Amino acid sequence: MSDPSIAFIGAGNMAHALISGLIDAGRDPQGLHASDPDEGQRNNIRALGVRVFENNNAALEGADIVLLAVKPQAARSVVQALELRHSQLLISICAGVAVRHLREWTQATQPIVRCMPNTPALLRAGITALCANEQVSDAQRSQAQMLLSAVGRVVWVNEEADLDAITAVSGSGPAYFFYLMDAMIDAGVRLGLPADLAATLTVETALGAARMATETKTPPGILRANVTSPGGTTEAALKSLDEAHTHEHVVSALREAALRARTLAEEL
Ligand SMILES: NC(=O)c1ccc[n+]([C@@H]2O[C@H](COP(=O)([O-])OP(=O)(O)OC[C@H]3O[C@@H](n4cnc5c(N)ncnc54)[C@H](OP(=O)(O)O)[C@@H]3O)[C@@H](O)[C@H]2O)c1
Repeated sequence: MSDPSIAFIGAGNMAHALISGLIDAGRDPQGLHASDPDEGQRNNIRALGVRVFENNNAALEGADIVLLAVKPQAARSVVQALELRHSQLLISICAGVAVRHLREWTQATQPIVRCMPNTPALLRAGITALCANEQVSDAQRSQAQMLLSAVGRVVWVNEEADLDAITAVSGSGPAYFFYLMDAMIDAGVRLGLPADLAATLTVETALGAARMATETKTPPGILRANVTSPGGTTEAALKSLDEAHTHEHVVSALREAALRARTLAEEL
């Protein structure tokens, strides 16, 4: 089976990450098109060997897959103006834009995949959740999976509603780790360390901990217990976090994020 041709509508950060990932994975840039009203963005993508267009419908010609990578606020007007063919798979990475919106703005029979990637996709270390409507064929599912795999791991969900929880966990997730890192750096400084040393120690520790969790495949709760000796320093810190009900605060914070994801969709 030959590689599907792909038209990227919106050529910003995420489109750039996806296109670079595909080309690094051996994809011929000849089968990729991108459109963006911004000349600077078009030049960035053109430098990768991809044909670029100012007009979105010109980019669609001959494409098997149309990947929507504009800001969510622009999605409605952009999609409503697209002259999509029935057979073209529409993949949206726009946060909060539901399959029902995309269906309403296209044709009832349009095959649609909605995705929730996250920012580490920019380093090809992302994780993307995907959800397909009934019109998507098995071959199109494989094509969507191949495309998003270019920027990290992919998981499929059957229920679109799960994307709200996924947005809370992995979509917004990098920010929670940055929050914790920021607090740890501040703590290091208050304990007397130079700021750059506190930052290096914190970030390398975060990377090491994430690698331990992925490479040992041991649940984080067990890893935490393994490094907590009775009466030791780690136990003293964790006791303080427990007394402040930190675990429950994290659960409430993610509930808020999931709720916001749902209400954002209603605002479109
Ligand atoms: N960044 C992430 O990690 C992340 C994670 C999850 C989901 N997403 C989703 O990915 C989408 C893209 O995000 P991004 O970070 O790549 O945003 P971005 O860098 O702002 O890219 C969007 C691009 O679309 C262009 N655009 C605006 N109007 C257009 C139109 N009418 N036709 C074609 N292109 C148009 C913008 O051009 P101008 O600059 O001229 O406006 C911009 O170059 C968003 O919907 C976001 O929710 C992103």
